[in-house]
Amino acid sequence: MSTLVPALRVGSAVSVSLKYVSLCVLVIQTTTLVLTMRYSRTSGVADRLYLSSTAVFLAEILKMFICLVVIRFLEASSILGLWKLLNEEVFTKPKELLKLSIPAILYTIQNNLLFIALSLLDAATYQVTYQLKILTTAIFSVFLLQKSLVRVQWGALVLLMIGVALVQMPSSSDSQTAHRPFSIIGLLAVLCACCSSGFSGVYFEKILKGSKQSLWIRNVQLAFGGILFGLVGVFTNDYQAVMEHGFLQGYNTLTWITICLQACGGLVIGVVVKYADNILKGFATSVSLVLSAVVSFYVLKDLHPSPYFLAGASLVIFATLLYSRPPPQKLRAHGNTIL
Ligand code: C5P
Repeated sequence: MSTLVPALRVGSAVSVSLKYVSLCVLVIQTTTLVLTMRYSRTSGVADRLYLSSTAVFLAEILKMFICLVVIRFLEASSILGLWKLLNEEVFTKPKELLKLSIPAILYTIQNNLLFIALSLLDAATYQVTYQLKILTTAIFSVFLLQKSLVRVQWGALVLLMIGVALVQMPSSSDSQTAHRPFSIIGLLAVLCACCSSGFSGVYFEKILKGSKQSLWIRNVQLAFGGILFGLVGVFTNDYQAVMEHGFLQGYNTLTWITICLQACGGLVIGVVVKYADNILKGFATSVSLVLSAVVSFYVLKDLHPSPYFLAGASLVIFATLLYSRPPPQKLRAHGNTIL
């Protein structure tokens, strides 16, 4: 008993630090992704645009490859051991594969919907409406995970959503903002993506935390579905274009960097969901949006901070602090709901 208590303390200290490390890595990863995407939009564009469905598919392949490498070094002693493990945990458990095919198909649809939305809506409308996923995630966390949030935390989530929306508003002098006519299909695409993001994230969290299977095996199961449905996406959306101009048409170095960052981002999200939760993930990505804008202003010097940005950034920081400071009785009763 006396040795058990310190061991438990060390275990929980390790998982608390993994929680903060994974959240910080997510902030850095999202910041880099946002900056790369912004740079890829403003720097020289190839004569033919790459097909988003092929990029979504290749990101899934890369995710699968990284997961297999991680499992080989963390959980299996050899390639043969890896094969045996996959056989035991993946191929002979079709029920588990089927369970993970729900978020896999939703994520594939979501990843494709976001590309559609981006081509129909202007960037500001897209980014502002996509913040609704912060609320859909909280609502699904309450219903599927029975997470309890106090009123202050709901308030913090609403402030966070408004803050991120303001941060992403273009200033009137922002010449790079393309104004497109309002598109109901674009808006519906983002709203569906918000629901899918909230549901799939929380569903994956429930499966991950409700069983003993490792995160990496779960990721392999998810990537299986992702690859399959991603391929279906390529053939249903872009069969003709692939046949005419090839699978990798319009690819350049930035496309590959974006695919790598997207794949790594997905895997970091898995780690964050394991050690923290989906709501904290929302805070981490919001903080990183502020951070990437600050880097843009002061390091890349490509934009100027607008009053919207300053108000939004203050709200994001305030909301993050507010959410992380629940009342003392909440601290004792629901240790898992706080930052
Ligand atoms: O916007 P949202 O946070 O819902 O995006 C989640 C992204 O992370 C999706 O692109 C999804 O494919 C990816 N993901 C992943 N592996 C996980 C969880 C999410 O690749 N375990």
